[in-house]
This record gives sequence, C-alpha cells and structure tokens, in this order.
Amino acid sequence: MFILLSLLVLFTQPASASDDPLLGCPDKCGNITIPYPFGTESGCYHDRGFHITCNLTYDPPKAFVTTTNIEITDISIDGTVTVNGLIARDCYKPLDLGPDINGAWMDVTGLPYSFSYTRNRFTALGCDTVALNYESSFADYSSGCVSFCMDLSSVTNGSCSGIGCCQTEIPKGLKRIQTILRSLLNHTTSWTVSPCSYAFLVDQQQFVFNVSDLSDFYRRRNVPVIMDWAIGSETCEEAEGAGDLACWANSYCTNSTNGPGYRCSCKSGYQGNPYLSHGCRGMKAKRISFDLGFWRIV
Ligand SMILES: *[C@@H]1O[C@H](CO)[C@@H](O)[C@H](O)[C@H]1NC(C)=O
Ligand SMILES: *[C@@H]1O[C@H](CO)[C@@H](O)[C@H](O)[C@H]1NC(C)=O
Ligand SMILES: *[C@@H]1O[C@H](CO)[C@@H](O)[C@H](O)[C@H]1NC(C)=O
Ligand SMILES: *[C@@H]1O[C@H](CO)[C@@H](O)[C@H](O)[C@H]1NC(C)=O
Ligand SMILES: *[C@@H]1O[C@H](CO)[C@@H](O)[C@H](O)[C@H]1NC(C)=O
Repeated sequence: MFILLSLLVLFTQPASASDDPLLGCPDKCGNITIPYPFGTESGCYHDRGFHITCNLTYDPPKAFVTTTNIEITDISIDGTVTVNGLIARDCYKPLDLGPDINGAWMDVTGLPYSFSYTRNRFTALGCDTVALNYESSFADYSSGCVSFCMDLSSVTNGSCSGIGCCQTEIPKGLKRIQTILRSLLNHTTSWTVSPCSYAFLVDQQQFVFNVSDLSDFYRRRNVPVIMDWAIGSETCEEAEGAGDLACWANSYCTNSTNGPGYRCSCKSGYQGNPYLSHGCRGMKAKRISFDLGFWRIV
C-alpha cells in the first residue's frame, strides 16, 4: 500500500513591495529612496514642505530638506526621516584642534517635521562642559547638561550616565534646536583626557557612549538625528471634513503625536505607500502544493 502525502499550504505574500512612482518622478536621490509625499521635482511632492533638493554635484548625490542645509540620509514611509545633525564643539585652544562651533542650530519651522522626542537625546560630551539646549520659541523652555571630571576614573564606559557624557530629553513638537556650548575653566584642568567639549542632538538608538569619544570625537562631522514628519496642520477629522485627506484606499489616518498634522498607514492585510492612490496593496493568498514523498507500509 502506498500513501501519498500531499500538502496544500496557504500562505500570504505581499503582491509587490514596489511603490508606484508618480509618472516621470525620480524616486531616488543617489542611493536614498524618495517615496511620495516626498519628491525632488515640482509636481512630484505633496506640498513644498516635502520638497527634497537632490544635489548632483556630490558623488553619490546628497538629499537636503527643501532649501535648507539639512542633509537627509534616510526617508521612512512610516513617518520618520534620518538627517545629519550638527555637532557644537569647544576645544582647548593650545592644541589647535580646529575651529570651535560654540553655537549650532537646526530649524525646521514651517516645514512638516518635528525632532523626535522619543528617539533623540540632547547630549553633551566632555569634562569641562556646560551645554544648553536653548529654545527661544518655547518662551519658557531650555534645558541643559553640565559635566565635570578630572580623570577617567569616574567616567562609565558604554553608558551616558552624567560624568563625561550627559543626556536630557527634548520636548514634544520641537522644530528648532539651538545649542550653546561653554567651558568654565577653558579645559585647563581636563585637556589631557578630554581636550574638547561637544553638544548635539542624537538618535539614542545609534549612539553608544565610548570613553574614547572624549579624545576622538573631534573627527566626527555629524551625528544621526531623527525627525518625525506629518501631513498638514489639521487632524484626521478636520482633513476628512474638509475633503482633503491624503490617505487613499485601504489605509487609515492617525493624528501625529509630535506636533500638528496626521499620518496614513495601510490597513492590516495591506502594505505599501498609503499616500498613493493604489499604494496599499493586498497580501495575495497563494496556493502551492508539494509532495512530502512516499512511505511503503507493509
Ligand atoms: C549610500 O551610499 C553611501 C556611500 O556609497 C553609503 O555609505 C551608505 O551606506 C549608502 N546608504 C544606503 C541607504 O544604502
Ligand atoms: C550643490 O552643492 C554645491 C556644493 O556645496 C553648491 O555649491 C550648490 O549650490 C548646490 N546646488 C544646489 C542646487 O543646491
Ligand atoms: C569601552 O567599551 C568599548 C565597547 O564595549 C570597548 O571597545 C573599549 O575598549 C572600552 N574602552 C575602555 C577604555 O575600557
Ligand atoms: C578662559 O579664557 C578666556 C579668554 O581666553 C579668559 O578671559 C578667561 O579668564 C579664561 N578663564 C579661565 C578660568 O582660565
Ligand atoms: C570604543 O573605542 C575603541 C578605541 O578606543 C574602539 O576600539 C572600539 O571599537 C570602540 N567601541 C565601540 C562600540 O565603538
């Protein structure tokens, strides 16, 4: 007697992972993918705030937030972009480690971005360091970090615990970062272990403090910062009422939790780009069969 075992398996697979690029619109800048609502050319983005300047004089080309000097390194359709954040620095003068940048700022006021308060931390490195995250548009808001040390014995490697490295959270809805960096003693007591101080906003998932940063960090030009993005300044209900909701079929709307506006997501069972008319595609059930083999039963 032969028994044929055959198995029918149903499993799901996305119909296609690729988005419909708007007709004739480039969907890349160098190796950075530019999904709608973002676009590099007129007619290719949702509104001016989602304009990306693709500068081809760099190799590979670099993407910038509209006409700013904020460089984008990644765009996620889930509502975040990664940008290169600036580093404020203040060094012990006799070592001549390069120009000090005692104030650094990034401003996305009027654009559909806010700095992520969940992902980023305002961070100060150094052993003679007073760093302030000064927020003039939130009249009563500014926060900061102070760190002093004479040697490395009190500095914990691998964790930013206050001495040598200090971090604070940022508030919701922040659109402007203005960093002010000072030393109290001109690094005269600490320069052998920490010749410079630094202050910057950074994605905490991509920055782990290493004791060697106190001596090495002057080589870094930028750090990864996460910005959340959202459509418009209305809530889902307001946009729907006004008939200009940007979420298409098989998607749903959620209000931004970081500043004004809303975002779209594909419904469960669908995936793709909810900002495109046929962007959210169903996961097709696919039927396959295969034989496990033959068993002879005596
Ligand atoms: C883009 O290219 C640069 C340099 O070739 C590389 O360092 C970077 O990791 C690439 N980014 C992505 C998202 O592939
Ligand atoms: C591209 O970058 C170069 C070098 O920084 C700059 O001179 C030029 O103005 C930029 N072009 C555009 C279109 O922004
Ligand atoms: C700090 O930790 C890193 C990674 O865990 C390690 O590579 C490095 O050698 C450590 N430095 C010191 C001074 O212990
Ligand atoms: C730090 O340097 C400034 C200017 O170079 C000087 O006026 C100040 O007295 C110095 N402070 C200390 C504590 O050395
Ligand atoms: C920490 O710095 C040391 C050099 O001092 C380096 O060898 C090591 O790879 C670094 N660790 C991490 C996790 O970056």
